[in-house]
Amino acid sequence: MFLYEMYKTGLTTFWYWYVGKLTAIWPNIKINGHTFRVYPGVYKPLENEHTAVQFCKKEDRVLDLGCGSGITTAFAAKVAKEVVAVDISERAIKNARENCAVLNCKNVEFKKSDMFSNVDGKFNVILSNPPYLSTDLKGDDRQFVTSVKYLPTLFSKVSEHLEDNGTLLVQFPGWFKSKLVKLANSHGLEVVSIKPMPAKSLYLSLLSLAYMQVGFRSTLFVMKKKKSAVGNDSKKVD
Ligand SMILES: C[S@@+](CC[C@H](N)C(=O)[O-])C[C@H]1O[C@@H](n2cnc3c(N)ncnc32)[C@H](O)[C@@H]1O
Repeated sequence: MFLYEMYKTGLTTFWYWYVGKLTAIWPNIKINGHTFRVYPGVYKPLENEHTAVQFCKKEDRVLDLGCGSGITTAFAAKVAKEVVAVDISERAIKNARENCAVLNCKNVEFKKSDMFSNVDGKFNVILSNPPYLSTDLKGDDRQFVTSVKYLPTLFSKVSEHLEDNGTLLVQFPGWFKSKLVKLANSHGLEVVSIKPMPAKSLYLSLLSLAYMQVGFRSTLFVMKKKKSAVGNDSKKVD
């Protein structure tokens, strides 16, 4: 077990180093005709993440929980009334500000926040693309694919910040379906739909290959509060 943890830590440490170098050489990404820049040490969105904004409406208050480079934030801000973009990484927040300026977004509030620690109020839509490897690496700029805290905190706290008829969108590899359904169910939420992310273009597929981000298809888990949990902001409903 100890050796396995060492192996995972070594591998992910190397991966962070490698993608940091790659992003320094190749910072740009083109999405829907717009060129965005991603800073080294910030997650480069390679899974059509921005398409999650199809669930945002113009009257919505949206939270982008772990906004990374802010590309999805920017697309959400073009649709919704207001977006709050938070991340544990200061560098990601700076990057998100820059990318939101590409789409001239004026309705975004940026905050450094460890999960919900600096988040106030409730939201109609919460966008979440969690780190999917549960390895504990230190450093705010090494939390974009590895975290032992993100998922447990998301599910234990999200009901306090989600409007009763609100939508939680969690993007995660499809093979974790049963884990996510279980987490949702035990925290007063139900998964109302599970949709694979749109197929990647050739450009995105090649980019993903360079980033060693291949072998799985990201899936969008759409969640709502269970009727029994509405109104009580319950943390745990069995
Ligand atoms: C997979 S990336 C997704 C980034 C962005 N949402 C996107 O789709 O391009 C996960 C993001 O969550 C952030 N994150 C990880 N742990 C966090 C925490 N405890 N609090 C806030 N943000 C966190 C990471 O810094 C990273 O930017």
